[in-house]
Amino acid sequence: MSNRNNINNVVVLTGAGVSAESGLATFRGPDGLWEGHRVEDVCTPAAFRRDAALVHAFYDARRAKLGTVEPNAAHEALARLDAEWRGELLLITQNVDDLHERAGSTRLLHMHGELAKGWCLACDERLGWTGDMGEGAICSLCGTSGRVRPDIVWFGEMPYDMDRIDEALRNADLFVSIGTSGAVYPAAGFVQTARYCGAQTLEMNLDPSLGSSFFDESRIGPAGKLVPNGSTRSSLSRSTPARCPHRGRGPRPSAD
Ligand code: OAD
Repeated sequence: MSNRNNINNVVVLTGAGVSAESGLATFRGPDGLWEGHRVEDVCTPAAFRRDAALVHAFYDARRAKLGTVEPNAAHEALARLDAEWRGELLLITQNVDDLHERAGSTRLLHMHGELAKGWCLACDERLGWTGDMGEGAICSLCGTSGRVRPDIVWFGEMPYDMDRIDEALRNADLFVSIGTSGAVYPAAGFVQTARYCGAQTLEMNLDPSLGSSFFDESRIGPAGKLVPNGSTRSSLSRSTPARCPHRGRGPRPSAD
């Protein structure tokens, strides 16, 4: 067990808010639509079965948009932290864009998949993807046509790497949540797992998230300003000690 005044294991969770200042829309805007679509029309396996052309068109447009945006100051600050932090660090992003890796983050995990990948349902392999996918996409690995889908975790599907995430949360000394509304589980429950296992918890968000009361500290403002100030080695080391220094196997967050 490490001393909480001596932070070693850091887990960072990011959501759509971290990419907002790069020009990518967040999910839960005032009209409840995502880029003009209801989530259930484009982000579920049922939607893909019902209207694959619509779902492909939606993700093809999102993939094309990646080429028009750049990492912002928050992505860059997190990449600097990755380069400089000698302890354990895991950056878990719910985002399917590639802005964290383009900024230089390497200890990174995309729990909701990646726009820049396809998943061939014929050979069950993931493959890098640029440009449009569309209904007739051909898998470069097995040659099958029409069985490649966006490698995105849709509602009702299991997020990626949950075992690794769970272990990192249990061992975290500091958990930081950036730019996420706390509306979607299991990510919304990470703060409770980390806190139960003794981590200090900090959120940086434009508005208090739905789980704001679970954080030891909330910093309210744009990620592009808050993250560069708050993610240096020295400011993380100055974080306040946690209130409940328990370790070991706590309850898993519910996945509803
Ligand atoms: P949301 O759109 O639900 O929340 C974005 C959060 O970012 C909100 O709380 C905003 O207040 C905040 N925000 C906006 N601009 C910001 C800025 N410049 N700086 C800091 N914060 C800002 O997006 P997520 O929480 O990421 O899942 O959504 C979680 C999941 O729901 C997504 O990964 C996606 C979606 O359905 C899947 O696709 C499976």
